[in-house]
Amino acid sequence: MMKEKRFEWNPWLILKQNQSLVKFGVSFLLVGLVFRFLYTSGTTTTTSPSSIAVPSLEENSLDDAEEIQILHKGKCDLFIGNWIRDPLGPFYTNESCPIIESPQNCMKNGRPDSGYLYWRWKPRDCDVPRFNAKKFLKLMRDKSWAFIGDSISRNHVQSFLCILWKVEAAVEVYHDFEYKSRRWHFPSYNFTVSLIWSPLLLKADIHEDRNGVASSDIHLHLDKLDAKWADQYETFDYIILSGGKWFLKNIIYFENGKVVGCHNCKGAPEYGFDNAYRKALKLVFDFVINSEHNSLVLFRTASPDHFENGEWFSGGTCDRTAPFKEGRVKLKDIDAKMRLIEFEEFKKARVSMTESKTRVNLKIFDNTHLASLRPDGHPGLYREFHPQRRNVKVHDCLHWCLPGPVDSWNDLIMEMVLRS
Ligand SMILES: *[C@@H]1O[C@H](CO)[C@@H](O)[C@H](O)[C@H]1NC(C)=O
Ligand SMILES: *[C@@H]1O[C@H](CO)[C@@H](O)[C@H](O)[C@H]1NC(C)=O
Repeated sequence: MMKEKRFEWNPWLILKQNQSLVKFGVSFLLVGLVFRFLYTSGTTTTTSPSSIAVPSLEENSLDDAEEIQILHKGKCDLFIGNWIRDPLGPFYTNESCPIIESPQNCMKNGRPDSGYLYWRWKPRDCDVPRFNAKKFLKLMRDKSWAFIGDSISRNHVQSFLCILWKVEAAVEVYHDFEYKSRRWHFPSYNFTVSLIWSPLLLKADIHEDRNGVASSDIHLHLDKLDAKWADQYETFDYIILSGGKWFLKNIIYFENGKVVGCHNCKGAPEYGFDNAYRKALKLVFDFVINSEHNSLVLFRTASPDHFENGEWFSGGTCDRTAPFKEGRVKLKDIDAKMRLIEFEEFKKARVSMTESKTRVNLKIFDNTHLASLRPDGHPGLYREFHPQRRNVKVHDCLHWCLPGPVDSWNDLIMEMVLRS
């Protein structure tokens, strides 16, 4: 059964400490939360600073639209479109879903506007129905699903579970010490959902304390998958894999157990996070394609942030209350770069997929563009409850409010499952 502490961001801390310490610990932790999932130092990225998603008046040519069409073989491209008004509003509330973690529970944390809840994603050339939880669960009888990645995957799994929760409450059947990897079961449907914490997808030694503050650089093995997900891979029927911003952290890279370079460190040559990300995706896709296991694997592209007037560490904020219109926004350099690598590696994987006799069905879930149009969907200041808000120094413009835009990702996933 769900624990009483389910609203807390970090249950193990709460179990151990007294109330006031907890408060301090949790608030410090929340700083860590953002700290952890963003860059671990001010000098981390080599790209230009903060060319944030500010609406630009020139029409943005969707340069790769044509290419994406090819990947979708004539079917309507689910990922090109707009956010349209949806009077139906969210599937669940801060009250009906017991597993929304505090930092994403914007309503509960006092976010005053609610307009951001009344939008849904509309592909340009077709309509995608709203997620049908009952139909979905029926389809998923005796199946198992895994979300593999970083805190955005955790964000996503919570949205997914909250929607299904309307039909049946899930039972938590596993969690690791830090509640980072978890598993739930829907008893009437014998449907299992796993969340696997693997922010870099590869074998990594992460030296962070519980506040997300790095005590030393991450050691990342570019030639080894993270066994945490790879060892369980064959037990899943559906998998959503994702990489993302963790690759921007200070990392020392290893191959064959030897240092081959690093990103933002001293003492080893700069390897380039892009080269490392490319290598990681290649290893992951090769593994998926060469596996005998029959499954649907969706690779979710990186989720963009919307810090404006600074970065997370320099007072960046996100106060918008409505989506951008298609074509009115340009991806930040770093997000564009990541998405490009993701697409290039995915396309190579598709080629080897058609050449081999793989049984896997690997698809791309191109969330970057549609998410980039939702500057209004982040907790910002409302990542914690504090009446005066004086203590909230770091805004969260990376994760997403729940309910919020992530709920629409599930509409698309259902469509992808039905199409597969
Ligand atoms: C949910 O949010 C509403 C405001 O939208 C608030 O009045 C209510 O107290 C919240 N409930 C919980 C359990 O946080
Ligand atoms: C539940 O589903 C799993 C596969 O996910 C299967 O191995 C097991 O036999 C199922 N249990 C029942 C009672 O049908």
